Amino acid sequence: MDSSSLLQELRNTVSCKITDEESVLNTYGTDWTREFIPDPLAIVFPESINNIRDIVIFANKHKVPLVPSGGRTGLSAGAVASHRELVISLDKMNKIIEFNETDRLLSVEAGVTTQEIQEYAEKHNLFYPIDLSSKGSSQIGGNIATNAGGVHVIRYGLTKNWIKGLRVVTGNANVLDLNKGLTKNATGYNLKDLFIGSEGTLGIICEAIVELTDKPRDSVNILLSVSDISKSSEILNLFRNNFILNAFEFFSNSAVKHINTISKIKFPLKNSPYYLLIDIECGSEEQLIKAESIYNVLSTSGIIVEGIISQNNKQYNELWSFRENITEAISVFLTYKNDISVKPSQIPLFIKDIQNIINNEYPEFDTILFGHIGDGNIHISILKPKSYDKGDFLKFCKEVNHHLYRIVAKFEGSISAEHGVGMIKRPYLMYTRTAKEIEIMKNIKSVFDVNNIMNPGKIFPS
Ligand code: FAD
Ligand code: MLT
Ligand code: ZN
Repeated sequence: MDSSSLLQELRNTVSCKITDEESVLNTYGTDWTREFIPDPLAIVFPESINNIRDIVIFANKHKVPLVPSGGRTGLSAGAVASHRELVISLDKMNKIIEFNETDRLLSVEAGVTTQEIQEYAEKHNLFYPIDLSSKGSSQIGGNIATNAGGVHVIRYGLTKNWIKGLRVVTGNANVLDLNKGLTKNATGYNLKDLFIGSEGTLGIICEAIVELTDKPRDSVNILLSVSDISKSSEILNLFRNNFILNAFEFFSNSAVKHINTISKIKFPLKNSPYYLLIDIECGSEEQLIKAESIYNVLSTSGIIVEGIISQNNKQYNELWSFRENITEAISVFLTYKNDISVKPSQIPLFIKDIQNIINNEYPEFDTILFGHIGDGNIHISILKPKSYDKGDFLKFCKEVNHHLYRIVAKFEGSISAEHGVGMIKRPYLMYTRTAKEIEIMKNIKSVFDVNNIMNPGKIFPS
């Protein structure tokens, strides 16, 4: 059946917005990545679970591949439709359904943004702890599908820790209502958690039950300049043994010039190879004195060069903005991103190996190291130099990947800590997962998606 008759039949089958208008195809056929050319068949905007179920039945009947699309902030091309897939956008399924104060459970449709959930929690004097700088656009459906992390993982864990129920439509068009908000439910395999991190390859997340928690108290942050980043574990232990740690982030000096291009305030510290941004609960005078004494111990030992402790909320937000603005600041370049993780205890040796690779392989490239060093997650963003064309640059970065991932495998780390595999990390999956694991994952997919219509080609070759 040709595309127009296919779309005509789809329009007769499901009563919601469907468009193949060029500009919409280009916008909704991709995510934050720029490696693949979007080429979707059409974009459909369901408004209910029934709409989604009708679309999935249609897709199985005509073997049309489907790509679920959330906020399209993904960094691994998981929401890219480059092979005439039908994109299912959750934009119109963006309602807050209900909140139960006793259970502290918020039921939402998948298209609600991360920020809307944070703001709803704030209004009820509670806290939704998954925080990432894409929160204004990223949707809870996408956060669940990628098991998003963010800056507070060190204290609150990942998205998976806050999802107590899911309503999904599987690739076989089964509507499943998983776990229904229960804290305890020991009745067989945890099907809910299979959908967390599934990147749209098992089915479409339509609704989520999200748990909210107490707000952190009296948060203070500290920006430190460090001469040797391999000492970060000592600093981590010192702070974590004395305070509740909300975040432990880092970034390299090369980030600062880019941050300054969009930051309203000038970066306050002198030139140093690396910086740490530490966020702690610090509610009393003696805790503040303790933080200052730790600071003095570190500076006397020469581990840190200088630092700033936030004195008020305005300065607290300003110090955070330096870390949060990195991705946006460098997005004016074509960037090749790596998102790798090891156990935090391995960071000192791991980061030395990473620095060697970067110095040897990327000597003339502007390379930014940053991320969630406290939970073992390092982001590497390589900016395409003007002298390189896109194809040569990507080819070169992909060659270097193998050096990088051999190191990751040596430390038994992950080639994708929090951004998912999508299409970009697919060729490198075997550095972290065994052939047997990949075979079992494919078998699990075939249980939920017998015709392989759900996001084929993401995570593993279709
Ligand atoms: P999309 O990009 O739309 O989709 C992502 C994947 O989920 C795709 O495979 C898609 O098919 C699938 N999907 C989307 N919605 C559904 C659904 N309803 N049902 C089934 N599958 C679905 N990520 C982090 O983990 N930590 C960070 O700190 C972080 N910071 C970021 C900062 C910036 C500036 C940017 C641009 C991105 C950042 N990201 C980060 C990456 C990205 O924001 C996350 O991966 C986020 O979870 C993606 O959500 P989304 O709604 O945009 O998903
Ligand atoms: C971050 O921590 O800022 C993100 O994961 C984004 C990135 O890697 O660019
Ligand atoms: Zn990150």
